[in-house]
Amino acid sequence: MLALLNRLMNRKPLRVALLGFGTVGSSVARILVERPELGVHVQLTHIFNRDVARKRASWVPASVGWTDSIDELFAAQPDAVVEVVGGVEPAGSWVRRALTQGVSVVTANKMLLAAHAPELLHLAATNGVQLRFEAAVAGGVPLIHGVREGLAGDRLTRVAGILNGTSNYVLSRMADSGEPMSLVLDEARKLGYAEADPSADVDGDDAAAKLVVLAGIAFRRHLRLSDIPRQSIRPVSSADFRYAQRLGCTIRQIAMVEKPHQRAGVPVEDLAASEGFHAFVGPALVLCGSHFGLNADANNVVTIAGHYGGENSFSGAGAGGPATAVAVVSDLLSLTQRTHERGEEWPSARVAPPPARPYYLRFVVRDRPGILASIAASLARQRINLDAVLQEPGYPKDALPFVITVEACEAASLRAALDEIAKSDVHAESPLALPMLLGDRERP
Ligand SMILES: NC(=O)c1ccc[n+]([C@@H]2O[C@H](COP(=O)([O-])OP(=O)(O)OC[C@H]3O[C@@H](n4cnc5c(N)ncnc54)[C@H](OP(=O)(O)O)[C@@H]3O)[C@@H](O)[C@H]2O)c1
Repeated sequence: MLALLNRLMNRKPLRVALLGFGTVGSSVARILVERPELGVHVQLTHIFNRDVARKRASWVPASVGWTDSIDELFAAQPDAVVEVVGGVEPAGSWVRRALTQGVSVVTANKMLLAAHAPELLHLAATNGVQLRFEAAVAGGVPLIHGVREGLAGDRLTRVAGILNGTSNYVLSRMADSGEPMSLVLDEARKLGYAEADPSADVDGDDAAAKLVVLAGIAFRRHLRLSDIPRQSIRPVSSADFRYAQRLGCTIRQIAMVEKPHQRAGVPVEDLAASEGFHAFVGPALVLCGSHFGLNADANNVVTIAGHYGGENSFSGAGAGGPATAVAVVSDLLSLTQRTHERGEEWPSARVAPPPARPYYLRFVVRDRPGILASIAASLARQRINLDAVLQEPGYPKDALPFVITVEACEAASLRAALDEIAKSDVHAESPLALPMLLGDRERP
């Protein structure tokens, strides 16, 4: 008892250096300054940023050293470094340097992790320090803690979520207002939800990087970022929301990774090892009343499916300085509690072709007799069964949208059918195919 008391009394706060004093970095400093009770655990000692003079803030205590020299920062021998600079380099070199010198790292940097997580986790383990990254996925939502600790007892089978706030804002606003994407994107830029160039968000690169990190946490496997198939939300139109609604659905950008489905006599673990994991980022039809369909604005929601525990969902603010900084500070506090945590490794795994799914197919055609029969024939040649045909009134004959939903089919067969269909000169726009993620209803 006396020994424990002595240990607690002698425990010194973790000396923390902040790399990057931007949106997240300044919010991390704010929390540490505004919550002095955390000072017994964590003490901010240095802030590093390029051209640091212009960054100095009067509310930061005078005891904190400001520097734009990374060598000076490492010479001060912090116990932990918070990397909130962003990008793969030079942030990656600084993280490696910290880990090699026996300094634990907390980072919010999904791009760095998607590119180099296995190497960095190995470096942390061999140097007996920790690499924590709660803020890298879903901002302030305690998803990584939830999956890594809260669901450690389950055998996880699927992680699916809305991981990009900008795309969710755009799609949920289009669903509510009926406005076209160009207008909604302009609005999102004005509100600060979208960058001047929103490509990384709307084309799926941001969500794919987060998915790589989530797959590592859920399955302890590293998928190569460039292997993850992604589809842009750009072709989704107001008409698609009208048709989706008739099917009881709406459209969201979904990021999903799952183990292959069980096959008689073959354990799922063996299948995942031999065939890899199904992974996908792109727009999909989801039921209006599902967690995904109800998720509005820039919020994130992630559903984790487990063999024993069924589905659990996490949701909340996926970005923003203060929310993300909460995740960083929580990681710092957990560093002070887990000095003996074992390191983890993420061996590489392959991305497998998608499983058979039902699809929503939208065509925009210059109307003339026989179009539907010809499309149906192309689908039949690939043994794809039609489920429903929908056509809303009120569209012009020279750009007439209509929708065919098809029963679960292989993506490769669908691609072959669509390639054949697209050769016809009737199309005013390229056909759009979206997977329908309807839970149990999607399986034949
Ligand atoms: N913002 C969010 O909501 C959010 C949410 C989750 C995760 N994240 C992640 O958090 C990280 C930081 O994002 P952020 O939004 O805080 O970015 P940010 O506002 O651009 O802040 C980055 C800071 O790092 C500094 N910096 C950049 N490159 C540097 C270099 N080569 N040398 C020294 N300093 C450098 C920048 O200085 P300058 O002022 O000179 O540019 C800036 O102060 C990223 O990995 C991001 O993906 C952000």
